[in-house]
Amino acid sequence: MSVLDFDLSDPEFWAKPMDERERAFERLRSRETPAFFEEMELSFAPKGPGYHALVKHADILEASRNPEVFSSGQGGATNIPDMPAEFTEYFGSMINMDDPRHARLRRIVSRAFTPKMIKQFEADVEAAAGAIVGDLIAKGSGCDFVTEVAARLPLKIICDMMGIPEHDYRFVFDRSNIILGGFDPEYTGGDLTQIADRLLTAGMELQQLVQDLAAHRADHPTNDLTSSLVNANIDGERLTMQELGSFFILLVVAGNETTRNAISYGLRLLTTNPGQRALWLDDIDGRAPGAVEEIVRLASPVNFMRRKVTRDHEMNGHLYRKGEKAVLFYWAANRDEDVFADPLRFDITRDPNPHVGFGGPGPHFCLGAHLARREITAMFRELLRRVPHIEGGKPDRLHSSFINGIKHMECAF
Ligand code: HEM
Repeated sequence: MSVLDFDLSDPEFWAKPMDERERAFERLRSRETPAFFEEMELSFAPKGPGYHALVKHADILEASRNPEVFSSGQGGATNIPDMPAEFTEYFGSMINMDDPRHARLRRIVSRAFTPKMIKQFEADVEAAAGAIVGDLIAKGSGCDFVTEVAARLPLKIICDMMGIPEHDYRFVFDRSNIILGGFDPEYTGGDLTQIADRLLTAGMELQQLVQDLAAHRADHPTNDLTSSLVNANIDGERLTMQELGSFFILLVVAGNETTRNAISYGLRLLTTNPGQRALWLDDIDGRAPGAVEEIVRLASPVNFMRRKVTRDHEMNGHLYRKGEKAVLFYWAANRDEDVFADPLRFDITRDPNPHVGFGGPGPHFCLGAHLARREITAMFRELLRRVPHIEGGKPDRLHSSFINGIKHMECAF
């Protein structure tokens, strides 16, 4: 087996050009067994035992289906080092739990995210996308597509769902950028030793915002999600204030930073693949479902989630020992040449398209997948109808191993 000349735990790896990243993961996928990486040293968490990098589609599917062995609750799923105790107050939400605690929370909140519920505010999503594209046209060519277009839709929808007023959108946006800012100096302030403090402050501020709102909604309920989460539902279940705070933080970061990047990558993919744009323009609504899945596959806004192995276990011919970690690189599995023919090709007619951009089959499959699909569909319908030849320039990428993000991208039309 060849010795690897790159290290997934080195922040600098994640700043390299995308084609280098593609080649590195291609090499990892070509190995017979997953590679093992040491964890990086951090000022706020003890160095862990290292992790197996799962990069094959088959491994990710199987690990996702087996949450008793591949746990999200032991130290967290959204981070490679075990989450320090002081973080769990803000970031210890259901994505970082196992059943039965996870199942209880998911049951309480999932009613807001069924296809039927999402359909109810389809009109709101469409109206918001229409207004955002209207503003873009008024501003004219040359503006930042990420901040002026892609980021605005998921932010507005999540805030409206929760009942957060418009004057707080910017506050929410800035804090969710810090929480998922990775190593990027634009959000970390350039000092990695300060990351823990910045994360905790952002978490505390978001929690305070929703708890203040919840205290009001407890006595003056409206039809927003905050009202239904603080007041007992039909089965008598409700969230505690701490659960509400961490759920809100999960929603704003999961809902904002992901859909935004899918929309931004989507524009970039259309720009570099004019044939696929022409195909989509021929039948905007008919082609949308396939195009949206293909955008999520190639964008893979969530690069990975992590699991801890709860007992010795053999999977696809490889032994995982109790206490070890496994990192599920969705981005890499979405390029697995054993599953996707010509995987780097953007093909809006790809069928089937069993990507794992929203996670693998298991209890943590993305709660917001229906909503995200609606938002991406609505945004491209507006763009393709009103500015059909809009192009996205060279992306200014987020420096992060966790989120495959675009911070800024100039657009022209
Ligand atoms: C393109 C957009 C999106 C992508 C790529 C994405 C990706 C993911 C992935 C990969 C997971 C799996 C976590 C795991 O395996 O541990 C996940 C979970 C989750 N997502 Fe999304 N997501 C998107 C949009 C959204 C939106 C719009 C929301 C909510 C408004 C949302 C809320 C959540 C929540 C709450 C979970 C945790 C579910 C659980 O632990 O049971 N996501 N998402």
